[in-house]
Amino acid sequence: EKGGYDWFMRKEIYEQPRAVADTLLGRYDESSRLVLDEMRITENELRSIDKIVVIACGTAFYAGMVAKYAIEHWTRIPCEVELASEFRYRDPIVGPTTLVVAISQSGETADTLMAIRHAQEQKARVLAVCNTNGSTIPREADAVIYTHAGPEIGVASTKGFLTQLVACYLLGLYLAQVRGTKFGDEIAATMAELQAMPAAITEVLEAIGPVLDLAGEFADAPSVLFLGRHVGYPVALEGALKLKELAYIHAEGFAAGELKHGPIALLEDALPVFAVVPPKGRDQLHAKVLSNLQEVRARGARTIVLAEHDDTDVVPYADVLIRLPKVSTLLQPLVATVPLQVFACELATRKGHDVDQPRNLAKSVTVE
Ligand code: F6R
Repeated sequence: EKGGYDWFMRKEIYEQPRAVADTLLGRYDESSRLVLDEMRITENELRSIDKIVVIACGTAFYAGMVAKYAIEHWTRIPCEVELASEFRYRDPIVGPTTLVVAISQSGETADTLMAIRHAQEQKARVLAVCNTNGSTIPREADAVIYTHAGPEIGVASTKGFLTQLVACYLLGLYLAQVRGTKFGDEIAATMAELQAMPAAITEVLEAIGPVLDLAGEFADAPSVLFLGRHVGYPVALEGALKLKELAYIHAEGFAAGELKHGPIALLEDALPVFAVVPPKGRDQLHAKVLSNLQEVRARGARTIVLAEHDDTDVVPYADVLIRLPKVSTLLQPLVATVPLQVFACELATRKGHDVDQPRNLAKSVTVE
């Protein structure tokens, strides 16, 4: 049932183009309006929402961070992201005009479940993003967007994460449609970009060779850092989490702009530093990440740079270059995460670790 792969995790990484495509399937009606099947919250209610709070744990939390960037940009509704385990212990401000979005692959994570119960006590509306039909979280939520990743057996979330991102993009576009913050053709253009993502992810997987070589090169690294900005920041956090949980290597993800506020002291000779470079756009993020890379290199650390395939500006700053397809900034996590998943999986298996069942971890965490 591993379909010819040695590990479920590897199989699930390679299933991602299909998982993303399936999660996008059937989201349009005949009049080209976005439809979300189990959105049992009415359009009127959605128009009265004045705040969104995303709650989740671990990898799902990083999907929530990306959701914040997309939802605020497309809808102008203030959106917070909070770790589910922190949420109910700090007397959060939620009420009938708050939409709480609970992201959980398994639908059974106790921290997330307790958080949604707390939100419902405060009369908030709860929407679940979930991969498991009939699990507790979507059953208790008012509405659900199912991700159609198929069963995820590997303990580390891979296709679960990518499909959570897709569901969050769909939610953002749907809210923009309902509230009229984006025109139909703008929504259609982003949907067309999303429809092109399975092919873009396939392109990343077909060119994965250099990432496999990297795993050999850095197998003995005591620590690995990951930098990113904007939606590249949660990607950096996810890359670090995958490495910690699978390869048992210390790893940290940083917002690249924070480097100078402390983490720069960690830089030393030969330390591997991954950086997700944003697409060149109107803002200055691209240039700012390049200057971070310059600082990293000046201290002898090794840079592994993920950048668009025609981005020649990065060449002088990269010890190793991993090329990404050209996609718009908000969607970049769908392609940029994949090499980091493969790196962690490859490094861990080279060390002889069981990547499907990493030590001390369970697939669903049903205790708080
Ligand atoms: C990491 C990982 C965990 C889960 C987290 C939430 O690879 O799998 O961090 O993302 O435990 O699980 P769900 O999404 O099932 O609520």
